[in-house]
Amino acid sequence: MEYKNILFSVEEGIATIAFNRPKAMNAMNGETMEELYDAASVCKKDSAVKALILTGAGEKAFVAGADIAQMQNMKPAEILSFMELGHETMRLIETMPKPSIAAVNGYALGGGTEITMACDMRFASEKAVFGQPEILLGIIPGWGGTQRLARLVGMGRAKELILSGEQINAQRAFEIGLVNRVYPPEALMDETRKFARKLAALSGFATKMAKHAINYGYDISIDSANRLEMQCIAQCFSTDDQKEGMSAFLEKRKPAFTGR
Ligand code: CAA
Repeated sequence: MEYKNILFSVEEGIATIAFNRPKAMNAMNGETMEELYDAASVCKKDSAVKALILTGAGEKAFVAGADIAQMQNMKPAEILSFMELGHETMRLIETMPKPSIAAVNGYALGGGTEITMACDMRFASEKAVFGQPEILLGIIPGWGGTQRLARLVGMGRAKELILSGEQINAQRAFEIGLVNRVYPPEALMDETRKFARKLAALSGFATKMAKHAINYGYDISIDSANRLEMQCIAQCFSTDDQKEGMSAFLEKRKPAFTGR
């Protein structure tokens, strides 16, 4: 697929997807969401990709939400399709067997905050701004904000943000657990890439099993979830990576994982 609204590159096993609609603060229209879905599918399938970074091109925005101009006159059935595409894309990123980091360089509002929450981690520039301002438009979040925000920061704080539409800065987002790390703007991408490289060097199979246990264990009973975890760790013992990781520890050397 040819991309018009995102920049997509793979370097040293790290895929970077940068939203690139500077005139609209990188707002997500249908075309951009299709491109994100396609690029995320490529990342999932391509064995050369070990980790994924999502960011915004330019200095102002990560993504300032779904495209309001495009949505303004949509009928309910059209919105439903647009939201379904968004949900499918978020779930693809969230459940893919490779780690993802949102490097949030500026405004991440509405659908922007929602995209960051589909990633495994959020690293933010000190200039980043988060929020779910949909209520100010007479609507509510539509790409999982009502669900993932409550799971990440707790129901009380999620309701505070969603019911008020207030924006918060990176420091506040860090304090409430929405953001994992905060960096000066000029350090954000280097630090995110450094961390992504660290994750990419670990066992791809163990990463896949860890994400599987967390993602699919979260909403079931603790007993079922613990059983799922046990099956996942048992599967790790079928891999070369488990043998390599444990041998390397005992031989006091660095492991060389192959993902097998
Ligand atoms: N959709 C479409 N266009 C957008 C946009 C969006 N979400 N956000 C910004 N833009 C456009 C503006 O309309 C403006 O275009 P023009 O130059 O043609 O007028 C351009 O980007 C620059 O924006 P501003 O002039 O507003 O820039 P600013 O620096 O003054 O403010 C901002 C930046 C705070 C991000 C502000 O643009 C803003 O509040 N944007 C909307 C945020 C929002 O409400 N997001 C939620 C969308 S709904 C949603 O996401 C639903 C869902 O859950 C899926």
